[in-house]
Amino acid sequence: MLDLFSEEAPWQEPLADGAVILRRRAREEAPALMAAILAVAQQNPFYHRITPGGHRMSVAMTNCGDFGWSSDSRGYQYTEQDRESGRKWPPMPPLFRQLALDCAREAGFPHFNPDACLINRYEPGAKLSLHQDKDEKDLHQPIVSVSLGLPAVFQFGGFARGDATQRVLLEHGDVVVWGGPSRLRYHGILPLKPGDHPLAGAFRYNLTFRRAF
Ligand code: SIN
Ligand code: FE2
Repeated sequence: MLDLFSEEAPWQEPLADGAVILRRRAREEAPALMAAILAVAQQNPFYHRITPGGHRMSVAMTNCGDFGWSSDSRGYQYTEQDRESGRKWPPMPPLFRQLALDCAREAGFPHFNPDACLINRYEPGAKLSLHQDKDEKDLHQPIVSVSLGLPAVFQFGGFARGDATQRVLLEHGDVVVWGGPSRLRYHGILPLKPGDHPLAGAFRYNLTFRRAF
């Protein structure tokens, strides 16, 4: 049967100055993105990292690209190797890179040059508390964040943790880009609700593209 909704063209929803949601932007690429995620995870499996404070993160993570983000008792860092396995991160698939560049350009950041892609996997109940992305060297480069699988509520706040937040539902194929005056805004993900997604099963996946160095 023809699925009319998947034919819907992407559309833009401004969030703040320098921040926009590109709705459904990655829908067409989604099956190929999902296959590439699983291939990365075969080489470098998803792990629940430990925060510097000693807590196990509810989100499981892996990476691809020149650098990968992770957390352990020593702190947050970008490294060329997965410190868990000692293996280098797999290269960023060309499809990932192209999508990130295209989305950044469409959001007004034509010079994005990502060297890191964090892959987050959320299971029911998993969440990401409000935080700023500030472990990167060059804060002139934006963040490009691609949502796949189950929907989740994204919080997008101000420049202090206690500032009011917008809450928006991010669905399969939605892409959020934030940079410029919004680069250091607090953001997070509320606990994932259980569900069953035709491509991603019981999970939500998120690709976060960044320039780390
Ligand atoms: C992140 O802030 O690293 C990820 C946000 C998301 O999962 O949408
Ligand atoms: Fe983040």
